[in-house]
Amino acid sequence: MANGVERGQWKSKLGFILAASGSAIGLGNIVFFSANAYKYGAGAFYLPYLIALMVIGIPVMILELGLGHSQKAAFPEALGRIAGKRGEFTGWWALINAGFITMYYITILGWVLGMFIGSFGELWKASVAVPAFGFSEGDLPNPYAYFFNMLASWKTVLFVVIVWIANIISISGGTRTIERVVKVSVPLMWLFMIILIIRGVTLPNGIEGIYLLFTPHFDVIKNIEVWQGAFSQMFFTLSLGFGIMATYASYLPEKSDQTGNGLMIAFMNCGFEFIAGLAIFSLLFTFAIVPKASTLSMMFFVVPQGIAEFPGISMIIFGLMFFFLLFIAGLTSSISLVEALISAVIDKFNVPRRQVLIPAVILGSLGSILFALPMVVDSGLNSDGTLGLTLLDLTDHWAFSYGLMIMGLIECVLIGWVFGAENIREHLNANSPIQIHWTFNWLIKLVIPGIILFVLGFSIWGEYQNGLYGHDFVVENLAVANILHVLVFLGWLIIPIVGAAVLTSLKAGKEAT
Ligand code: ALA
Repeated sequence: MANGVERGQWKSKLGFILAASGSAIGLGNIVFFSANAYKYGAGAFYLPYLIALMVIGIPVMILELGLGHSQKAAFPEALGRIAGKRGEFTGWWALINAGFITMYYITILGWVLGMFIGSFGELWKASVAVPAFGFSEGDLPNPYAYFFNMLASWKTVLFVVIVWIANIISISGGTRTIERVVKVSVPLMWLFMIILIIRGVTLPNGIEGIYLLFTPHFDVIKNIEVWQGAFSQMFFTLSLGFGIMATYASYLPEKSDQTGNGLMIAFMNCGFEFIAGLAIFSLLFTFAIVPKASTLSMMFFVVPQGIAEFPGISMIIFGLMFFFLLFIAGLTSSISLVEALISAVIDKFNVPRRQVLIPAVILGSLGSILFALPMVVDSGLNSDGTLGLTLLDLTDHWAFSYGLMIMGLIECVLIGWVFGAENIREHLNANSPIQIHWTFNWLIKLVIPGIILFVLGFSIWGEYQNGLYGHDFVVENLAVANILHVLVFLGWLIIPIVGAAVLTSLKAGKEAT
């Protein structure tokens, strides 16, 4: 027990591995990886990606697991125990930054649900009318037209609320209910992915797509943007910097091996990502569809466009399978995001879980609805189309590309220098047959912070030189059209700092006697 309220424990190691790998494997693996790989030169992306995995991904994963396991508490409390108030503040900051991501992640899952419904029929028509943007049937091809028609309607709000309710039900009993959900959905996810790969590579020319994925363009690795892409992808895909792994490891028994767990989760995740790349690239190139770089377009237009080429009923079956796969993969990730937040509140305020669930579903739904707002702000569809998607794009830029890495940097500094890298290494080695070498200490203390600082510094310089992200977006009919990108940036900058300061200063709940 953290402080009077029962924290729960995984029933089995399998349950934990399924939950943690289910958290890691999500939309990031199925679409973001392929989209990033394509954008950053296909085969050439593997080198920065593998370096990011070995040098940053695996060590930070083991570090987060070791932190949660040794402190037996959710992220802010665990960091608070090793580094006092500044540690707790950092933990809350990370969770609020992750809260932004959770909210739009769930909005995207709401859209996935809408696409799943469309896969029964409407999505496969050649075109649909998109009245909100002034397009008649035939003006825009599907699935593009279907997607923007859905985005510009209020029914997405309903989808978002449904996904939130599914999340809250999944975590309502803590580890007990999470384990039940992941035991069904994680194996199903692997099965569906394997079916998609078999279908993809056995298509005429399917193998060509795979060649493309492995054809290196080494010139791009000189580009710092590629490295930033690989590092932020690594944090996101392994669910690092969200406080998730610390929370999940805090539910493990006293004697458990975090080094082995970390390696297993990282390899399962990257293995899935790799095979997802095979499925997606083979599918795309069979139909000579050149994927656009944007991750959302990959998920919502490009892959469905490939599936739409399947003959007859197989188009519907594979369409349903693809969106169902995305949905369950995303759900097992979103429940871990929500659980990290809920668990932190329970640990701090010592309140029963059931008291937190209703406020969480209300607040969370309101946040996600913001990203689903259907007002048209870009009638020519030159950038993001609706207000919700524009807000999502802007928020994602800061919370994903900067927030997770900033958190990775701070946690390495706190654990490495304040708590002592040697202490965490001792804890990890005491419970594992795989002994971590002392060089790990310097990786945590110097190498990882140094790399992250360099990449972040370079990105900030780029922002300064090219203009703040989003300054060139098309935003119409809004009083704040010209400064929307500045407002979102300031919101991301200020809300987590103020929120974390308030939460840190609040008195902790009393221990039950
Ligand atoms: N790790 C999760 C994903 O890849 C968040 O989608």
